[in-house]
Amino acid sequence: MKIGFFDSGLGGLTILKAVAKALPEYDYVYYGDTANIPYGDKTEEEIYALTVRGVEYLFKVDCSLVVIACNTASAETARRIQEEFLPTNFPDRKVLGVIVPTIEELNFGKMTKVALLATKRTIESKKYHKELELKGNGNALLIDMATPELVPLIELGELEAATNQAISRIETEAGESEVVVLGCTHYTEIKRGLRAHFKETKNIISQDEVIPEKLKTYLAAHPEIETKLSRGGERVVHLTEHKPYFDQILQQLLGGVMVEEN
Ligand code: DGL
Repeated sequence: MKIGFFDSGLGGLTILKAVAKALPEYDYVYYGDTANIPYGDKTEEEIYALTVRGVEYLFKVDCSLVVIACNTASAETARRIQEEFLPTNFPDRKVLGVIVPTIEELNFGKMTKVALLATKRTIESKKYHKELELKGNGNALLIDMATPELVPLIELGELEAATNQAISRIETEAGESEVVVLGCTHYTEIKRGLRAHFKETKNIISQDEVIPEKLKTYLAAHPEIETKLSRGGERVVHLTEHKPYFDQILQQLLGGVMVEEN
């Protein structure tokens, strides 16, 4: 059986790339819902329906475990899929989100000021606030920054423009922050530019550096899943819509992969 990755577009490939580097032996299938991106301005019900469709596809192609790499989909669907959809439909499969592991990674002091960059939907869901509270870290000062304008720029490969835009927003709205959480798959692409600009003044948390270790720990704790994973080193990308300029991005992010389209 394989490990599936779900995202609303290509951004989650940066997470898959990091995971596949840390755990190269397993077989991976990536589902990017490029026909429906962005998710960041859709309703909760729309996001739930699209995410369930992607998760079902990944189960159908033999994934026993699916990582919802998309923060927006994680915020709106991960717990609902785990608590309602899986028990009745796929009791032997697992779905993991990215928000809880990101929160676990953060070691906030009481008054640490944290800028959270995410889509409008993720920010409005207040999911980061809720999970922080559950972890007993509700006192961290989370500065919500909805930055959906970065997604199309990054999706088009316009990284410099996206980086400059993010810097200007952070300086204006969260100049005092000590930590910046990149709470969207796509933003991993601008972490270098942000680090080069803010240097030691801000700690930039990027999920491609968080999820691989978390997944390793999860698999070590769940031998019933891990022992059934196939080890062919296969990477397959399934996109709901393919555009010619994706080829270069796919090549850059994963090298030679098999691309399928709906
Ligand atoms: N992949 C989404 C996320 O991580 C961002 C892109 C979108 O709006 O669909 O939140």
